[in-house]
Amino acid sequence: MPRRIAILPDTVADQIAAGEVVERPASAVKELTENALDAGATRIRIDLEQGGKTLIEVSDDGHGMGREDAVLALDRHATSKIRSASDLVGVRTFGFRGEALPAIASVSRLRLTTSEGEGDGTEIDVSGGRVDHVGVVARQRGTTITVRGLFFNTPARRKFLRSASSESRASWEAVATLALAHPEAGFELYLDGRSRLVVPAGQTPVERLEAVWGADVARTLVAVSYAIGSFRVSGFIQRPADAQPTGRRTQLFINGRPFRDNFLVRAAEAGYRSAIHPGDRPSLFLELETASEDVDVNVHPAKLEVRFRDRMGIERVVEEAVRDALGKLQAAALVNAPRSSEFRVPGSEGGSSTFSVADDLFPETEPEFGAAPGSEPQSNRNPEFGTLFQLFNTYIVFEGAEGLVFVDQHSAHERVLFEGVMAQIERGSMAGQRLLLPVTLELTDEELDVVESYGDVLSRVGFEVEPFGGRTVAIHAVPTPHPKFDAGRCFQEMVADLARGRFGAWANRLERFAATFACRAAVKGGDPLDEREQRELLSRLFTCTLPPHDVHGRSTIVQLPREELERRFGRR
Ligand SMILES: Nc1ncnc2c1ncn2[C@@H]1O[C@H](COP(=O)(O)OP(=O)(O)O)[C@@H](O)[C@H]1O
Ligand SMILES: [Mg+2]
Repeated sequence: MPRRIAILPDTVADQIAAGEVVERPASAVKELTENALDAGATRIRIDLEQGGKTLIEVSDDGHGMGREDAVLALDRHATSKIRSASDLVGVRTFGFRGEALPAIASVSRLRLTTSEGEGDGTEIDVSGGRVDHVGVVARQRGTTITVRGLFFNTPARRKFLRSASSESRASWEAVATLALAHPEAGFELYLDGRSRLVVPAGQTPVERLEAVWGADVARTLVAVSYAIGSFRVSGFIQRPADAQPTGRRTQLFINGRPFRDNFLVRAAEAGYRSAIHPGDRPSLFLELETASEDVDVNVHPAKLEVRFRDRMGIERVVEEAVRDALGKLQAAALVNAPRSSEFRVPGSEGGSSTFSVADDLFPETEPEFGAAPGSEPQSNRNPEFGTLFQLFNTYIVFEGAEGLVFVDQHSAHERVLFEGVMAQIERGSMAGQRLLLPVTLELTDEELDVVESYGDVLSRVGFEVEPFGGRTVAIHAVPTPHPKFDAGRCFQEMVADLARGRFGAWANRLERFAATFACRAAVKGGDPLDEREQRELLSRLFTCTLPPHDVHGRSTIVQLPREELERRFGRR
């Protein structure tokens, strides 16, 4: 029998690997620029002709290579970055697979010139994976890789290349991503001799973001900073009002490494909830950090994707981080005072990029409008709202920093109660107010099941409920979230909602309970509130951390901007 199996020659294996690693010129640009950064370069120059189809050249001032290393670097799986598979955990360099150089060299005519800065430099010419020439050159410390005729020997792949401008765009994106990852390094990208991205060495992350994304986009961003357990999220997200259906930018990093992840982008969008129109796509710049053993960076040939051990956990922290940042933004934007929530570039205005709600906006006052059933007020600091009035017994209206502000009293109170109840459930039980005469209610079987299964939570928020024979329950104590609270009615509506699974989409049982309670316990549209109650409700609302809408995702706050008035009155 003839042998059927043969080991492929290295050049063929490299060409096959090239299919995964080097899909288009931008992939080569990415790999070569990553190598420059891994070599500690502080200045990197990238030149492309015809979108990289005819020429790609990447020059750096990194540590360079000696002659033997330079020859070895062109071999498959030759890498200086890891020695064993266990080194993959926590690997900080971009490269570690040792595939890029041989893969690119196998499908192009490549020249490598490199020097460690002392003695002679080395020059190597490779054509379609075959070394044609190794020589001596004089050059400064660093490395230059010149790639001509990419895919000259793989015509099928060459045919798949797009127009020069589309290939140029892809390379621009690749360089932009790396420039954002390494603000301390300087980058110059030239397309057909014209400079397209030039950023100096030694920038701060914020300066770099503004330089790469442009001041117009940077101005629309607000800071994010959040942590749960071992996950940290920091960075910037776009203000809801500036999100557009097209043209958004997204950039994710995990432990400093750029990666792509549509699920995380969606989790971030979920954090906006109803703060943006459904079709809007906010720009996102998020840096995630976690323990290096919780993330696997070697799951994609071009290292564009990573795998998380706790997928749900990372999605949740991203969503919460966005929600948290937007909650603070809303609180700051509506209060009558100068604030520092804007994205600022150091030097331009002397500000910093960190977000803060000015503390002196919250002078001491005693709250009257209970935050949650029987709970102690979490904050007794009250923002200034100036004159307030109630419109249609439904909206609280006041003058905000940027226009007239309308707050839906029911939705606002719902939000306040939801947060209060969640805090209380987590903190422990709170006694309700004992009733002189118990309230008795007749329930359905399903509702009785609800009372039983939520017994612990009910008592923690202040309801004291006992069976009273048959399908009747007696309520002995109730929470007092506000003066107009009708405890019996709230209880009945709440168990009915829970029995019907009305808030079924909520993540967990406690949130479902809290949302139901908040909805049923909150003041209703049409309830008159006196000025003190209005003020109290607002001050509660603006210390919430949830986004500016209620548990159903409806808006809590609507603004009539000053510009809109001026436009309507023909003043501008
Ligand atoms: N610009 C450069 N400067 C210095 N060394 C380089 C450069 N590019 C590549 N090398 C060396 O060549 C090796 C192989 O590169 P590559 O094929 O991209 O694999 P990897 O980056 O995964 O190690 C690298 O590990 C590094 O030692
Ligand atoms: Mg590499």
